[in-house]
Amino acid sequence: MAKNMNVKNVRSKIGIFDSGLGGLIIAKAIFSKLPKYSYVYLGDTKNLPYGEKSAKQIYSYTRRAVEFLFKQDCQLVIVACNTASALALRKIQTDFQQKKYPGHRVLGVVVPTLESIFRQPSFGSQIRTNWKTKIGVIGTKATIASHIYKKELVKINRGSKIYELATPNLVPLIESNSLQKAKISLELYLRVFQKKGIESLVLGCTHYPILKTSAKRIIGKSVTVISQDEIIPAKLASYLTRHPEIAGQLSKNGERIFRVTDIKPDFQKVASRLIGKKIKLRLVKI
Ligand code: DGL
Repeated sequence: MAKNMNVKNVRSKIGIFDSGLGGLIIAKAIFSKLPKYSYVYLGDTKNLPYGEKSAKQIYSYTRRAVEFLFKQDCQLVIVACNTASALALRKIQTDFQQKKYPGHRVLGVVVPTLESIFRQPSFGSQIRTNWKTKIGVIGTKATIASHIYKKELVKINRGSKIYELATPNLVPLIESNSLQKAKISLELYLRVFQKKGIESLVLGCTHYPILKTSAKRIIGKSVTVISQDEIIPAKLASYLTRHPEIAGQLSKNGERIFRVTDIKPDFQKVASRLIGKKIKLRLVKI
């Protein structure tokens, strides 16, 4: 048996990783769908924004964060950060996790997000490979420059078109609790999509679900806004059902631990606002 595969260990937790505090929005939705499991949230606030970093830096930060979570007893890690999913996930899975931690798992958010567009309940569980649609996606500079959504789309559905737009002003505004300014900035950004005839808009960043209502209002009723807080929890639940060898090792003590790599004065306030209740962030060196 592999060195790190301890099948009797039912103390394992689920790790949720983001470059900052935005992933708490996804964590909140996961906790609400799967409340019994125990979780460790890690926000790499010291190195935020990942969206402005090189692929090499993003890989190195993400790998370190994933390993930290593995060492915190997380059998399964969700890389909630789109930027890290885009630029580091594949390499982490193949060059790192499979070799050094073969009993552990690390999952990202890009593919599940795209699949949700083509696997709408009204069309059964099949992926609609023949459906031609136009999709808009917004994300950080690094996510958009990686063209990850375009690359993954062609594997799912060849006939559809994707318009990618970097929206770098949004993360700093959300992290600093300047939501009003973020909404104004979003409105300016989304003008780009107005004449494209998109049918879906992907909010391709952990932070953006907080702007979901504004995005819907700005983009109009004819466009479906795809927000990862509505997708990832169900995908995780389905993964755990399909993988009893992982689910069976997870503790059901409902523990919640929140770790960050840097704490600035208003972080506690922002974090509590994003997750919807008062939480205690603890500083950690990774
Ligand atoms: N959390 C990142 C994402 O989902 C955005 C924030 C950053 O630039 O670090 O893409």
